[in-house]
Amino acid sequence: MRIIVTGGAGFIGSHVVDAYIDAGHEVLVIDNLSTGSAENVNHKARLEQVDIRDAHGVAKVFPSFRPQVVNHHAAQIDIRRSVAEPIFDAEVNVIGSVNLMHQAVRNHVKTFIFASSGGAIYGETPHPAVETAAKAPISPYGAAKAAVENYLFAYRKTFGLNSVILRYANVYGPRQDPAGEAGVVSIFASALIAGRGVTIFGSGEQVRDYVFVKDVAQANLLALDHLESGVIDVRSPDGMAYNIASGRATSVNELYEEMSRIIPAKVAAVHADARPGELMESRLDIERAHDVLGFSPQMNLPDGLLETITWQKHMGSGLVIQH
Ligand SMILES: NC(=O)c1ccc[n+]([C@@H]2O[C@H](COP(=O)([O-])OP(=O)(O)OC[C@H]3O[C@@H](n4cnc5c(N)ncnc54)[C@H](O)[C@@H]3O)[C@@H](O)[C@H]2O)c1
Repeated sequence: MRIIVTGGAGFIGSHVVDAYIDAGHEVLVIDNLSTGSAENVNHKARLEQVDIRDAHGVAKVFPSFRPQVVNHHAAQIDIRRSVAEPIFDAEVNVIGSVNLMHQAVRNHVKTFIFASSGGAIYGETPHPAVETAAKAPISPYGAAKAAVENYLFAYRKTFGLNSVILRYANVYGPRQDPAGEAGVVSIFASALIAGRGVTIFGSGEQVRDYVFVKDVAQANLLALDHLESGVIDVRSPDGMAYNIASGRATSVNELYEEMSRIIPAKVAAVHADARPGELMESRLDIERAHDVLGFSPQMNLPDGLLETITWQKHMGSGLVIQH
């Protein structure tokens, strides 16, 4: 199939591109390289440096490639920036997404896959959240993800655009930017490698579900097959959504302990005040993804952490890991 992957120069998107290319698909990447890098892009994919806010630029890319699928990963992913600059966040994450949906319909794209966020839209989840759980986004970033889900539902009902929404837990793995805000694993890894102390906000007992990026890429591959078979319940955006997670919750303290087993800490971790608005518990139920998509995460946390740390060490030494 011919597939456009937006954000394909970024952390998760680049792994999705690799999985699609390995499966024999033809891929065009749309990315403005704001946080992504051309080096992440599989050399068998075509890269168009376009901003998804640029309706005209996006419109130019579609007709020449004639995509059958759009897989949408490009986003402003910094929650704190979404709080500081909510209009910018909405321009990229809402308007940019609608630009893509609009072109998808105009160019007869059959299916649209959207990278949403379980962590940002469910709120506190003392029990693993199922897809139909109440939504309580507290950041503009989460509100934008929920808005795009609603748009996708409307686009399905109004224009017949078929879509799958993948609601990710905390994704980690090679190519995640340790300078970014999102990835505690890569932030801890870079500190431990450099022999710096890490800062743990709050008690460290806040739990998250850490899912390995290659398992997430696999879910994007499974979503293609699922779309082909076309069996999707469509009575609400939830009916098109799948939680993509490891199914296992880990506290920040446990994560740090596990990582310092791989690289013993030279400096003790320090604790700082909890960050306002930070969730205590974020857990996702993956039964639906398992039953319907056939999703079954393969990577366990210690091996995934080892692979991530090994990659980060290579990056620090200036070695480029080839695709
Ligand atoms: N990392 C996680 O744990 C996580 C969790 C839930 C959802 N997500 C979602 O997954 C997707 C990918 O996230 P990531 O962690 O790989 O982030 P990333 O920053 O590595 O990737 C985002 C990519 O989008 C590109 N981009 C940003 N703004 C753009 C614009 N205006 N036009 C074109 N390209 C643009 C960036 O250059 C980058 O390559 C995002 O939609 C994010 O919201 C990520």
